[in-house]
Amino acid sequence: MDIQQFLVDLRQYGLANTIPNISDKNAQFLRDMIHIGRVKNLLEIGTANGYSTIHLCMALRENGGKLTSIDYSLPSYNEAVENIEKTGMDDIATLIFGNALVELPKLTEASFDMIFIDGQKKRTLDFFQLAYPLLRDGGFFIVDDVIKFSEKMSGFYEFLEQEKITHSILKIDEDDGVMLIVKPKK
Ligand SMILES: C[S@@+](CC[C@H](N)C(=O)[O-])C[C@H]1O[C@@H](n2cnc3c(N)ncnc32)[C@H](O)[C@@H]1O
Repeated sequence: MDIQQFLVDLRQYGLANTIPNISDKNAQFLRDMIHIGRVKNLLEIGTANGYSTIHLCMALRENGGKLTSIDYSLPSYNEAVENIEKTGMDDIATLIFGNALVELPKLTEASFDMIFIDGQKKRTLDFFQLAYPLLRDGGFFIVDDVIKFSEKMSGFYEFLEQEKITHSILKIDEDDGVMLIVKPKK
């Protein structure tokens, strides 16, 4: 299996079917963060068809890491399961079918080194609050689409300001960027 070619084809499929997969630059950024942060346990909220998940798994494989990813769309989940199997990433990725708002509280606290939030934008604050206890101290969040969709993220920016949560916005694409939030060490 040529995974690079598979990803190129999956991106084309995503474009043709309006699946909002991460950009190439974002994929490279996330993979870099996994390497720099020596990430071993990663949580993704919003699997879609598994395009970003495969990129994350490729970097995690080099660290001997694992990934959990959640999506509540059954067609997306089924496509992701197939794509993860095809690329041989099923030993790294655990895919959960369900609503993240319900599934997150079932996960083990402080178990993740990195959490990638890429679900429904208006639920970003809910995802962040529910996922916060799941991130270990010194771990970090990456939140996608924080420039283009900032207005859809109702209450998220306000919450960060109100709670004085330090955050950095990185403009990695022409029209959008991601937010980095590091959980302070106690
Ligand atoms: C932007 S897409 C994810 C794209 C994917 N990360 C990629 O780059 O290939 C958002 C996904 O989040 C899922 N989603 C949105 N809200 C959710 C929720 N509350 N629980 C679980 N999945 C959710 C949607 O079904 C959709 O597949």
